[in-house]
Order: sequence, then structure tokens, then C-alpha cells
Amino acid sequence: MQNSQRVLGITSGVILMLGAFQAFAVTTLKLSHNQNRDHAVHQAMTQFANEVKEKTNGEVCIRIYSDSQLGNQRESIELMQNGALDIAKSNAAELEAFSPAYSIFNLPYLFRDKAHYQKIINSDIGKEILSSSQAMGFIGLTYYDAGARGFYAKKTIRTPEDLKGLKIRVQPSPTAIAMVKGLGANPTPLAYGELYTALQQGVVDAAENNIISFTLSRHNEVAKFFSLDEHTMIPDVLLISNKSLKKLTAKQQEIVKKAALNSSKYMVQLWEKSEKAERAKAEQQGVEFIVVDKTRFQNAVKPMYDDIANTRPELFEMVNRVRKVE
Ligand code: GCU
Repeated sequence: MQNSQRVLGITSGVILMLGAFQAFAVTTLKLSHNQNRDHAVHQAMTQFANEVKEKTNGEVCIRIYSDSQLGNQRESIELMQNGALDIAKSNAAELEAFSPAYSIFNLPYLFRDKAHYQKIINSDIGKEILSSSQAMGFIGLTYYDAGARGFYAKKTIRTPEDLKGLKIRVQPSPTAIAMVKGLGANPTPLAYGELYTALQQGVVDAAENNIISFTLSRHNEVAKFFSLDEHTMIPDVLLISNKSLKKLTAKQQEIVKKAALNSSKYMVQLWEKSEKAERAKAEQQGVEFIVVDKTRFQNAVKPMYDDIANTRPELFEMVNRVRKVE
């Protein structure tokens, strides 16, 4: 009797230990991005992390590192490829160097309006692009709205002629470089984190971005004129490495994918609110938002499309697919 009691005691001890072990079987995934914690995209990703934690009963925990703490966007993607990082929020411009399919988002004035852009993101084209980087060791989980981009500088830019000869910071995207060259200016690819100082010290004369990033990275302190030319709408992209995805069970993978989509929907609402608030704040601080005649900019970049038709047939085919979406 005593013996069996002892055995029972030992067995339940083992079960307890196993229970305790399971309770600590948490998979922690590191997520890196380059915006500060006030940015709408940080809030959307916080919701993503919270939903994953809740739905997996705490088994999958996503730890977010903001402000390029783990490196700029390019470095984060490379860390992910090397297995040192699980998830990265990047941008479709940066991703062009890893998967050419992302070029489509960097073409100026391809989307007729925001509704058209949203349709593409949610279409099969959008999904194809997210999985196009699989062979590079990662895939896209979802897109995050990142508004429309405009040029900004220390002087007013109303027409393409006003851009002539300016040194303009662009993201490291071949299409962005071609666009700025086509507009008669000199493209200077730089990482986002280096731009404030570059503008302040006159290394570049101008840059281009959406309103939220313009104000939250304090570029409005050094460039007071923001043109609402809306040349591109380039989404942010939430990426996960193939290896990290495989660390999760099928059920956990499903939860992660669903939570990413939900946070993307949340981001659309966050964006609208935040963009209004940031614009009002910038205006109070003396920034002038300039309404421009977009057709002049549209005409100036038309030759880019002839060039693509002649040199990149697969991209041109995608352009035509996008244009056909009503
Ligand atoms: C946007 C985008 C960032 C990107 C930045 C840039 O703000 O959301 O991901 O880094 O543009 O111009 O570099």
C-alpha cells in the first residue's frame, strides 16, 4: 500500500512537472519595425500581438521592437532570412529588391484612387505578391495601409518643373529611383532613419512620404512644404520567415494569419483618424499643405510606362491586370 502510494505520489509529481513544463512551452516571436510607438502601424501590430496571445492561450507571444532597434528595414529582412528574427514590418518599396513583384506598388499614379488600391491589395494579385518572396525565405502575412505619398521640401513644389535638379531622398527601390529621374530630379536612396539629419544638413533637398510618417519622424521641423501630389500609395507589409512559421502548429499558424488580417482592417480605420490628426498638428506648427494639379505630374511620368512595356513584360502584364480591376 505504502509503495503504491509512493508510486502515485511520484507519478502525480511527474504529471505536475509536465503540466508546469507545458505551461512554459511558449513560442516567442520577435517583430522588428522602423516607426516610433505613436505611429498607427505600431498600434495595429500591438493588436495583432494581443490577438495572437489571446487566441493561442499565451502559447505564442510576439515581442515588438520599434524604432529600428533591431536594424533598419533592409537589415531586419536580412536578419529574418538568417533566422535571427521572426517577423518584420517593411514596406513594398524596400521589398522590391527581394521580390520584383512588389514593383507594382511603386509605380506612380497606377491606382485610380484609394478604393482601387484597396481592391488590389485584397485581390488575388495582392495575395500573389505576398507569397512571391517564399523562395527568399519569408512571406507576407498582410498589408498595412500607408496612405498616399507626396513630395516635401524647404520650398514649395507645385509642378514637376519645381522638382528639377533637386536631390530627393527615395526609398531603396529601383522604381522610385526611375520615377524621380523621370521627373528631372536626382534620387538619393537612404534608410528612413537617416533622413531627418540628411534633410537638416542639406544632404538632400527634399523627400517624399505619407503625412503620418512625415510628422511623426519630425521631418516637418526641417521641411515646411508638403505637396499633396499623391504620386504613390505604397503599403507596409508584415513579413514572417518560413522557418518561424514552421515553428508553429497548424492551428497556431491559422491564428497568426487571421490576426494579421484583422490588424490590417483595424489599420485602415487607424490611418484615417491619425492622418487627420497629424495633418492638423503639422498645420498648427506652420506646415503648408499644397494642392497641386496632379495631371501635370501624371503626364511627366508617362514615359516610365512605355519603358516598362519595352523592358519588363511581366511587370507590364501585371500593370494591365491592375488597370482592368474596376
Ligand atoms: C513609410 C513606410 C515605412 C518606410 C518609410 C520610408 O513611412 O511606412 O515603412 O520606411 O515610408 O520612406 O522609408
